[in-house]
Amino acid sequence: MAIQICLFNHKGGVSKTTTAFNLGWMLAEKGKRVLLADCDPQCNLTGMVFGFTGIDDFKGIYESDGIRNIRDALSPAFESRPVPIEAVQCEEINGRSNMFLIPGHIGLAEYEVTLGIAQELSGSLMTLQNLPGALHYLFQLTAKKYNIDYIIVDMSPSLGPINQNLLTTSDFFLVPMAPDYFSVMSVDSLASILPRWNA
Ligand SMILES: Nc1ncnc2c1ncn2[C@@H]1O[C@H](COP(=O)(O)OP(=O)(O)O)[C@@H](O)[C@H]1O
Ligand SMILES: [Mg+2]
Repeated sequence: MAIQICLFNHKGGVSKTTTAFNLGWMLAEKGKRVLLADCDPQCNLTGMVFGFTGIDDFKGIYESDGIRNIRDALSPAFESRPVPIEAVQCEEINGRSNMFLIPGHIGLAEYEVTLGIAQELSGSLMTLQNLPGALHYLFQLTAKKYNIDYIIVDMSPSLGPINQNLLTTSDFFLVPMAPDYFSVMSVDSLASILPRWNA
């Protein structure tokens, strides 16, 4: 199985996205096969990878056929469509033939509430039982398709259910931070929240 590493800090602007891209790039330079997953609905990683400057640039990915972004890939599970989750048709990355991207989508945010409910109630409601495992399953399925060694997950700056899910299904997590007062506060708050997520 591919090793899943997520970049997490609920404080914004601390280099999660930049580190996700550069860590992936350097692992690929060392010959590893890398899958980047853009799980921030703001899609900064997708924009960075392709050098996009505006929303029109994203249309090429969103309007072409096939399963090409994180929201469309998860929609069978989250919109109760009776079709299986399929591996993403990843975009190629210029200059890095062994690095792949699952593009982000603003619509991923629409699944936040559903996932939160599923994480609380999946023990009692059968219909919700598959949702908490959907993200990890999708990553591993896509990783298998591209023979991936490392999955690097970029996350939004929040403590919502999607981030809880991504963090608790990752093998490792990194907390990028800036040397300032607010980062110290965010570490204190992570120290109290992560044990609760892990419970
Ligand atoms: N190692 C670094 N050195 C200098 N600037 C950086 C570094 N990492 C990120 N930045 C800059 O900091 C800003 C926030 O980075 P970003 O990766 O978007 O943070 P986040 O994803 O945590 O919101 C960007 O303008 C980025 O170019
Ligand atoms: Mg970011």
